[in-house]
Amino acid sequence: MQPFRLNDEDVCGLHQPTRLVLDWLREERGLTAAKDACREGECGACAVLLGTREPGDWVRYRLVNACLLPMQALEGHHLVTLEGLNRADGQLTPVQQALVDEGAIQCGFCTPGLVMALTHWLLNGRRFDRTEGLAAIGGNLCRCTGYQAIKRALTRLQPLGSALPPPHARLGALIAAGVLPASFIGVGERLASLPTPTPSAPRADALLVAGGTDLFAQARARHSRQLLVMLADRPELRGIQASAEHCHIGAATTVEELLESDLLAARVPHLHQVLERFGAAPVRGRATLGGNLVNASPIGDLSVCLLALDAQVRIKGPRGTRHLPLARFFLGDKRVDLHPGEWLTGVTLGLAPGPTHLHFEKVAHREHLDVAAVNSALALELNDGTIGRARLSAGGVGPAPRVLVATSDWLAGRTLNGATAWSAACRAQQEAEPIDDVRGSAAYKRRLLRQLVLAHFQALGPDGISAHWPLTPVTGGMAP
Ligand SMILES: Cc1cc2nc3c(=O)[nH]c(=O)nc-3n(C[C@H](O)[C@H](O)[C@H](O)COP(=O)(O)OP(=O)(O)OC[C@H]3O[C@@H](n4cnc5c(N)ncnc54)[C@H](O)[C@@H]3O)c2cc1C
Ligand code: FES
Ligand code: FES
Repeated sequence: MQPFRLNDEDVCGLHQPTRLVLDWLREERGLTAAKDACREGECGACAVLLGTREPGDWVRYRLVNACLLPMQALEGHHLVTLEGLNRADGQLTPVQQALVDEGAIQCGFCTPGLVMALTHWLLNGRRFDRTEGLAAIGGNLCRCTGYQAIKRALTRLQPLGSALPPPHARLGALIAAGVLPASFIGVGERLASLPTPTPSAPRADALLVAGGTDLFAQARARHSRQLLVMLADRPELRGIQASAEHCHIGAATTVEELLESDLLAARVPHLHQVLERFGAAPVRGRATLGGNLVNASPIGDLSVCLLALDAQVRIKGPRGTRHLPLARFFLGDKRVDLHPGEWLTGVTLGLAPGPTHLHFEKVAHREHLDVAAVNSALALELNDGTIGRARLSAGGVGPAPRVLVATSDWLAGRTLNGATAWSAACRAQQEAEPIDDVRGSAAYKRRLLRQLVLAHFQALGPDGISAHWPLTPVTGGMAP
C-alpha cells in the first residue's frame, strides 16, 4: 500500500488493503474514539474525516464511516480521527464545548461521531441554518441524550459557521477558532509529496471498489482476500460536463459532489430531489453514481431517477467502449449487462429542448440514512396541459428498478388532470410485480406505488388535481 497521513503523522509500509479502517484504528493504533457499533453505516458512531487534495492546492475533508472504508482507500489521503482534533492544551474545541454546555452527552458513545459530523459541517457547510445543521448530523444516532440538547449544540455553532469564508479558504479561520489544531497547516503540501497510487486497470479477477458503501455494508467477509481496484480517485471517472444537448457524469462522482455542483443544479435541476434524500453525509460523501447503478439494488434512488430521465450508460472494457440505455443495463435481480473485465465509466443525460418535468418520491423507515421500501420517479414533457412523452419508473416493486412501460405509453397524449392521474396510478399498481420482503408485503408495496404516482401528479399537475380522487389510505403490511 502507498503511504497516507493519519492525524499528524505519515503512515508507510502497510499491507492490509482490504482491512476495515475502523478495525485498524482501534486494534492496531489504539485510537478508540471511533466506535464500533452497527458496522453498516447506519449510526455514525465510527465517523472520521478523510482529506483529499483538490485542484488549487487545498484539502477537502469528507465525513466517512470508518466501518465501510477499506484501508486501501486511504492511500494518498489524510485520515483524521477525533484524537487528531483534540487540542494539545487540554481545552475543548468549540464543537466539543457546545455539546458539553448544552448537556448533549450522557454515555458518550455517540459523541465522537457527533463531534466529527459537526466539525465536518464547519469545514464544508455552505449555509449555517438549522436545516443544514440537522442534515449535517442526519447520519448520527444517539440512544440516550435526546436530540433536543444536540440540536441546541448545533444552534450554538451557527454564528461561528456563518462568519466563515468559503470551504476552500476556511482552514485558517477554523484553526484560529480552535476547531482544528495547527497540525492541519501544510497538509496539502505533505499529501502532494507522498507517492501517488498507480491506477491499475480494472482486471476481471479484481473487485472494483468505488465508495464501498454497498460492498462493505453487506458482505465484508467476502472481500477479505480479494484484489481491490479503487475507482474513487480516478480523474477520468469523475466530474460533470454539459453541452447544449447532453450532460455527462463520471461514474465515480459522489452523491455529495453531485449535490454541490452548480452546473448540475443549473442543467439537471430535478436531480436535487433525489440527491437531498440520499443517505446522510457520511454515505453521500463516498457513495458514487456508478456504484448505485452497478449494485442494481431494486431500490437504488439514482437508478430509478435516471431511468425516468432515460439516461445512457458508458461502459469500457477490453473490447473498447459501448453505450447502452440504462433501462437495458438492468437485467434482473442484482444483475447488470457488464461482461468480465468491463466497468462503467459514466452516464449521459439528454437535455431535451422542451420542458421536462420530473418528480421523485421515496418511502423509507427513516428519513435520513435509509434506502426506500418503494421509490418512483415520473418525467413528463408537457405542452399546454397535454402530456407529450412520459416515463414512469419504480423501484422496490420488482427484481430490479424498471420503467413501467405500459403506464408510461398510456400517458402519452393525455390531458394532465385528476382522471388521468388516478387511472395512471391504478395502471402502475397493476403493472408492478412486488414481492413480500422485510420492507413490506407485496400488497402494501403495490398500494404504496399507487400513492407515490398520485404524489407525482400532485406535484406536477395543476392545483386541485386530487379533488376527485377516492380517499384510499395505505395500510396493511409494513414489515416490522
Ligand atoms: C447507511 C446507508 C444508507 C444508504 N442510503 C441510500 C439511499 O438513500 N439511496 C440509495 O439509493 N442507496 C443508498 N445506500 C446504498 C449505497 O450507498 C448506494 O447504492 C451507493 O450509490 C453505492 O455506491 P458506492 O460507490 O459506495 O458503491 P460500491 O460499494 O463501491 O460498489 C457497489 C457495486 O458496484 C460495483 N462498481 C462500483 N463502481 C463501478 C464502476 N464504475 N464500474 C463497474 N462496477 C462498479 C462494485 O464492484 C460493487 O459491486 C445506502 C447505503 C448505506 C450503507
Ligand atoms: S459503526 Fe455504525 S456507522 Fe459505522
Ligand atoms: S450520549 Fe449515549 S448514545 Fe448518545
